[in-house]
Amino acid sequence: PSEEFLFQHKGIYFQPHFVTPEYIDSLEDFEIRDSDVFVVTYPKSGTVWTQNILSLIHHEGHRDGTENVQTVDRVPWLEYNIHNIDYVHRPSPRLFTTHLPYYLVPRDLRNRRAKVIYVARNPKDVVVSYFHFSSLSVLLETIPDFNIFLERFLAGKVLAGSWLDHVRGWYTHRDDFNILFLTYEEMKKDLRGTVLKICRFLGKQLNEKELDTVVENATFDKMKTDPRANYNSMEGNLLERGKGHFLRKGIVGDWKNTMTVAQSERFDNVFKEKMKDLSSTFTWD
Ligand code: PPS
Repeated sequence: PSEEFLFQHKGIYFQPHFVTPEYIDSLEDFEIRDSDVFVVTYPKSGTVWTQNILSLIHHEGHRDGTENVQTVDRVPWLEYNIHNIDYVHRPSPRLFTTHLPYYLVPRDLRNRRAKVIYVARNPKDVVVSYFHFSSLSVLLETIPDFNIFLERFLAGKVLAGSWLDHVRGWYTHRDDFNILFLTYEEMKKDLRGTVLKICRFLGKQLNEKELDTVVENATFDKMKTDPRANYNSMEGNLLERGKGHFLRKGIVGDWKNTMTVAQSERFDNVFKEKMKDLSSTFTWD
């Protein structure tokens, strides 16, 4: 990959615009509070969706629309602090997002302090979403040929590295963390059930009406028109104008509209065998 867009550090690719290797290394000592909550994902797996759900659960002003704060500022990126938020003096409970692999997160997370919500998505849908996003994002190299993007993805030569290593790493080290695993697909299938699951994990009690509001505001259609949640305000800044939307389709199985049979087989050849031991937890068509 071009160094203008990505640099490699400890087996992972990062964006040079917001982060340095030193900063990533410093996160090991980042002070964790028991009340912190982290959304952890590989890119394009349902990050902004989960960020929005968390924000809706925690902030009444987000739920009822009285506070106009961007979701990304409610649940900011740990490693990409794009709005220079003072994390150290932020009131509890702090909500964070990260694409980091398990071995680069703050040490105390690994001591089962704080809570982690890990969201995984069918990697074939991830690669398709990622492909579109790479031409939408100003900060990523546009690769017009899906075949070339697919090979880079399979080789882990994209932002956040290898999908397989990410999921495997977090899953096989799950006992080190206080972690809830979710899939994009179960969120699609049962959004209300997922929100309840998250509330239970966080020990947050919402009444029926509050729960309804969270669910209503977390649907794809609602988020698509919610300026706090759809990144449209980043157009021209982080996202190219007129090249599509961050909330693109929001469906399960879109890979079938993009990948050829040969590409799908190529994908299976690389991933299926290596996924075997994870298949009781993560299975996708
Ligand atoms: S990023 O860049 O890593 O933060 O991207 P991420 O948010 O993980 O992934 C973006 C994809 O998630 C879809 N999305 C949703 N799907 C269903 N329902 C809701 N509410 C929702 N919100 C975001 C978004 O459309 C991207 O997927 P694709 O397949 O490209 O549409």
